[in-house]
Amino acid sequence: MSRAAIILAAGAGTRMKSALPKVLHKVAGLALLGHVVAALKGAGVERIVVVTAAAGEDVRFHAKMLGVESVIQHQQLGTGHAAASARDALADFSGTLLIVNGDMPLLTSDTIGACLMAQDRTGLALLAFEAADPASYGRVVLRPDGYLNKIVEYKDATPSERSVTLCNGGCYAVDARKFFHWAHHLKNDNAQQEYYLTDVPLLARADGVACAVAPTDEVSVLGVNSRAELAQAESKFQARARARMLQEGVTMTAPETVFVSHDTLVENDVEIEPFVVFGPGVTVRSGARLRSHSHLEGATIAGGAIIGPFARLRPGAKIGEGAHIGNFVEVKNTVIGAGAKANHLTYLGDARVGAGANIGAGTITCNYDGFTKSTSEIGAGAFIGSHTSLVAPVTIGAGAITAAGSVITQDVAADALAVARGSQVEKLGWAKAFRERKQAKKQSEQK
Ligand code: UD1
Ligand code: MG
Repeated sequence: MSRAAIILAAGAGTRMKSALPKVLHKVAGLALLGHVVAALKGAGVERIVVVTAAAGEDVRFHAKMLGVESVIQHQQLGTGHAAASARDALADFSGTLLIVNGDMPLLTSDTIGACLMAQDRTGLALLAFEAADPASYGRVVLRPDGYLNKIVEYKDATPSERSVTLCNGGCYAVDARKFFHWAHHLKNDNAQQEYYLTDVPLLARADGVACAVAPTDEVSVLGVNSRAELAQAESKFQARARARMLQEGVTMTAPETVFVSHDTLVENDVEIEPFVVFGPGVTVRSGARLRSHSHLEGATIAGGAIIGPFARLRPGAKIGEGAHIGNFVEVKNTVIGAGAKANHLTYLGDARVGAGANIGAGTITCNYDGFTKSTSEIGAGAFIGSHTSLVAPVTIGAGAITAAGSVITQDVAADALAVARGSQVEKLGWAKAFRERKQAKKQSEQK
């Protein structure tokens, strides 16, 4: 059976109080829209149409980047009207249609699967959950046989309907052709004068189609309407991701202090100390150790490597087997060979560090002249003395040594010593004589 989906993302998102469209706000580094698209694709949905506002140029651009289609809902007349705006785009589609609010970043493929299974029974289904605090969610009123009686929006509900705690999750599965027929007949005679998607089941019932209600947990369908709900979604996403990592064999002493990205990949037997933060694009192989307060993005870390405490790995950092990256070391677009060490206060950018090389404290690759980035090549087993400045482009041969404090501007041959600093001058007794002279002057001025 072929599957398509409509993602509703044209709402003004007023409660966010933001210049950025609501669905482009991020949870774990990925836009809300990206989370919904990923869940739908995971559930086997082949075609996805995002409904956007006329001014939603950014949302359409984002949809294109995610490889999905978009349409414009010219006026925001409600969720039912929004879904109907995809009619032309899906004119050639027949099969099962999922309709999903674009503001649900914790939706999973499994949850969507449950909605699809319920739809198989009658031809129409929605997800519902028991809310701890039902707030402004639509209330789901059931018939005695467990099928849907009606959904009542908070603003239209009577006090007794508001006391219902079963809420509408904002994810529907329906036969596509029938849906567009029903949507065409929606009315807006309600408190908000909107065409509610939630009234479609009433029209379906008139055609003899009951709406099945698939139960789900509150977290999976959490809708983001405000910054507080965005923060709550982030916190729930993190809790879920940490639980999964622990289950997959990752050691975390204080998991609640570790923050991951939507795409973080950590293998089993990795140890993560407290307060480690992952940006997008990080892979950590089995046996690596991430020490406290390290910040990683776009980095790949091999087994046996030790990162931190207080290390910063930026995009393109590739840390080899058993390498050490220590405190206040920043690595960007740099390959660190197996067993190499950069343990203290160093910047390695646009560089290649050979296996077993030792980078002394305070080493800086001077990779940028304000216009172009240049590379530094450091051979295997080289020893870079403390406080060396490597003015790129420059190559240090394998096994070479640079003297501490050197400013290296020319290539250094393998196994050579390069010294590039002022030579030391010593003047015996000079300091003592200087102090006596200054002291005497001060005393004569005070008289
Ligand atoms: C909606 C449901 C409510 C449900 C809740 C779940 C309706 C009428 N109400 O309420 O029953 O409990 O979701 O989270 O459907 N949108 C458009 N065009 C519009 C209006 C909205 O594209 O004209 C989009 C929004 O961008 C959003 C989604 O539809 O992604 C839902 O709209 P929102 O305003 O968040 O509805 P809720 O009040 O949350
Ligand atoms: Mg909402």
